[in-house]
Amino acid sequence: MDADAIIIGAGACGLMCAVQAGYLGKRVIILEKADKPGAKILISGGGRCNYTNLLASDEQFISNNKHFSKSAFTQWTVADTIGFFETYGITGKEKTLGQLFPDGKNAKDIVEVFTSLCTDFGQQIIFNAEVAAIEETPDGFTINYEKGGKTRVLKAPKLVVATGGLPIPKMGATDFALRFARKHGLHIIETAPALVPLTITGKDEDWYAQLSGNTVFCEVSNDRISFEENILFTHWGLSGPAILQISSYWRKSEVFNIDLLPGRDITGLIDEERKQNGKSLLSTLFNRLYSRKFTEAMAKFLPIEKQVASLTKADSELIYKTIHLFKVKPAGDKGYDKAEVMRGGIDTAELSSKTLECKRMPNVYFGGECVDVTGWLGGYNFQWAWASGFVIAQNL
Ligand code: FDA
Repeated sequence: MDADAIIIGAGACGLMCAVQAGYLGKRVIILEKADKPGAKILISGGGRCNYTNLLASDEQFISNNKHFSKSAFTQWTVADTIGFFETYGITGKEKTLGQLFPDGKNAKDIVEVFTSLCTDFGQQIIFNAEVAAIEETPDGFTINYEKGGKTRVLKAPKLVVATGGLPIPKMGATDFALRFARKHGLHIIETAPALVPLTITGKDEDWYAQLSGNTVFCEVSNDRISFEENILFTHWGLSGPAILQISSYWRKSEVFNIDLLPGRDITGLIDEERKQNGKSLLSTLFNRLYSRKFTEAMAKFLPIEKQVASLTKADSELIYKTIHLFKVKPAGDKGYDKAEVMRGGIDTAELSSKTLECKRMPNVYFGGECVDVTGWLGGYNFQWAWASGFVIAQNL
């Protein structure tokens, strides 16, 4: 045997798994297709890596079985993530909504924690390795991989698949985990881009495009969930944190709601304005609430140049509906090129929640994004990757 386990993928889950296995005195070899580890860690959070979230609970994860991740999150908590990085000189700084970033350091430092620990523990990472075949043998697995035009062989009793999801194919994302799972008859929950900008086409396209670059603090909701954060108008539709969040819950041809003034009542504000200065224009009030550009754009829907005193009951109703119940029907999403994560993946029913071992394929483990556990925006997906890597390592 060449190692206690072979891990495929040197991303967030695979690296954490290798390091945790190292603490337990187990030797692993990571096969990585790219020429460096942790490519997605490096680009995450704009290069700053939002590596966990102080508010994380199993509530912020989407899965066919929402209870599945509980065991992993109990075995490896947010405090464990924070403590782990602190041990290696990375302290967290909360940006907003519990999102933790390295204080005075960045994503490169996060990756370096793993690479130096792998070196310390003697965990080998083989880069530019293309897995060609995996054969099950009575005592484990024989893995054929290609590197530098040559086929090489590794043998180990256990196999960890941590090859991530489909987003950003130009960075080397592959469907390896999904193909491997399908080949062995495992059920896959339908996959789709998530945390992804949404596109608007048709008659409203120009209206959105003219607002490109403008942000508005909103509550975005559908019948399942709501998020209060900024939305960002773009040339092709909508982005920004609130839109990325709702995109994970959006299904094609569905309509969702935007409250453009969350927590406040536009009718009350107009009544107030009417009492103070009835001659003032609706646009004057709007300019206090929104950017000038956004106010101008609302002229398409609302009588913004009318004096507030002369607004009719019908006007008030229209204003209320437009501001608090703004309906959006996206044409689609920007796809895996722009998605932060993949929704769906290997059905959790195929895995033990306690060990992440595949029930039908003993000694094979799946972790990270390839599993049907998808976090919200804000450090939750790394928390799942770290937790699943830790859990697998305990069982190698
Ligand atoms: P990950 O993608 O990290 O690693 C998979 C590894 O397997 C890669 O190194 C890949 O090259 C390798 N691989 C793939 N196929 C292979 C094959 N056939 N053979 C060998 N190796 C193979 N999350 C978060 O919590 N906070 C954040 O700030 C961000 N920011 C962010 C920004 C952007 C632009 C993206 C695209 C994503 C994020 N994320 C995020 C999401 C986060 O990056 C993601 O959830 C984790 O990296 C998933 O960890 P995994 O280890 O599962 O996959």
